[in-house]
Amino acid sequence: MKKIVIINGPNLNLLGDRETDVYGNTTLDEIEKICNEKSKNLNLNLSFYQSNSESEIINLIHKAQKEFDGLIINPAAYTHTSIALLDALKAIKKPKIEIHLSNIYNREDFRKESLTSSGVNGIICGFGPLSYTLAIDALNGLL
Ligand code: DQA
Repeated sequence: MKKIVIINGPNLNLLGDRETDVYGNTTLDEIEKICNEKSKNLNLNLSFYQSNSESEIINLIHKAQKEFDGLIINPAAYTHTSIALLDALKAIKKPKIEIHLSNIYNREDFRKESLTSSGVNGIICGFGPLSYTLAIDALNGLL
């Protein structure tokens, strides 16, 4: 069974409560459940993490090289700021997908640049929680 990991960045632990007009009412726990079901159906073993710390996220990305067959990441605000995350992603020789709940291209100008996306195979954004399950499908196709 292939092992995949989903890494969630800062403030995503607040989903369901945070800026619900942008991010909706679904909590991260609910998204994790949906992702677990989707992965089971595709015979994938899923690990799901969230961290507010840039260094912890970098360590999780490093772990992906050793312990997982593919990676999905919602880097949240670090998408727009973190060369360190980009470098970590570039170092991982596994299929990688960046996701966002919101469409970062129809929001504020500072969200229109993703520093991290040049370190991944592809990006899915704008579909709410569906961005996660679409990414699992896409990653499964790449594996
Ligand atoms: C986000 C988009 C980012 O711009 C923002 O900082 C987030 C969430 C999304 O999933 O839509 O925290 O990654």
